[in-house]
Amino acid sequence: MTTVTELLQPVELDLENLVATLRSLIGAKHPILQAAAEHLFSAGGKRLRPGIVLLISKALTPNGELSPRHRRLAEITEMIHTASLVHDDVVDEASTRRGVATVHSRFNHRVAVLAGDFLFAQASWHLANLDNLDVVKLLSRVIMDLADGEVKQGLYKYDSGQTLQTYLEKSYCKTASLIANSAQAVGVLSNQSDEHLKSLHFFGKQLGLAFQVVDDILDFTGSDQQLGKPASSDLASGYLTAPALYALEENPKLDTLIQREFSEEGDIEEALQLVRNSNAIHRTRKLAENFAKESREALTWLPDSPSRNALVQLPDFVLSRLY
Ligand code: IPE
Ligand code: IPE
Ligand code: MG
Ligand code: MG
Repeated sequence: MTTVTELLQPVELDLENLVATLRSLIGAKHPILQAAAEHLFSAGGKRLRPGIVLLISKALTPNGELSPRHRRLAEITEMIHTASLVHDDVVDEASTRRGVATVHSRFNHRVAVLAGDFLFAQASWHLANLDNLDVVKLLSRVIMDLADGEVKQGLYKYDSGQTLQTYLEKSYCKTASLIANSAQAVGVLSNQSDEHLKSLHFFGKQLGLAFQVVDDILDFTGSDQQLGKPASSDLASGYLTAPALYALEENPKLDTLIQREFSEEGDIEEALQLVRNSNAIHRTRKLAENFAKESREALTWLPDSPSRNALVQLPDFVLSRLY
């Protein structure tokens, strides 16, 4: 299996620099917020989103040289992502992230809300300083979508009448929007045609949806240790992701358990078993495979280069997290 490090190899050194720059950008203004953010940055995520921005940047630059604005866009992308995780973990009351205690469990809720805001604010400032209105519009839309996605998710808690479409719209907002719009923003910085901008957006959107669908399968099939965050938590929180929605079509008993919000002893264990023992995981995998395929086909126009090769392998990497 290709690891994420192998895949991001063409931008490995750039990603190392990015981590160092992120640390200094966060600044020492507010030691406690710095400590909170630092805590997450040093735990290290996969850095998939800045990796994608840097790979597209290289693939679109004939000599592969990255401009400071392309680098800054990658940094902004990781800041927005991390901010969204800090807030998401407050909403979900999650205890761990990236294998370490979440900001709110290590400090408290107030610190986590402020640290998330602080990261969003920093991202907005650096975004404005790119001095490109189209890029500002694309990335500020992402921040709007993230908030919209969290609200949508809350509204549909325990709602077994929701459709797969609703779930996908929520997933676009929470996950795919950032990848899609940052991919398009690279195209804007690199003066690409409208047609190419559209296909960069589509690549990121389908990849993001595949990524979220895979994350939602892993929530049912993975362990806390494997994921670095609490497993088996979506259904227990009332979040009906694709596996739960498919299982609902197969088994009315699951609906009963959801309707009473798993209030009786053994309900959640039974519900998890119903999903795991149904055809739902298989069907959800097919859904992810379809998004991955569409994503893979979107960037065939890129000129041949190591970065392009990495990009077209990304959808398969996302799927390989399941095996
Ligand atoms: C987590 O994203 C949030 C989801 C979209 C599921 P990642 O799995 O990319 O998180 P890190 O950055 O590697 O920790
Ligand atoms: C992730 O969705 C996206 C965010 C932007 C926060 P999830 O809610 O599934 O992410 P995890 O599972 O907590 O990482
Ligand atoms: Mg979450
Ligand atoms: Mg999840």
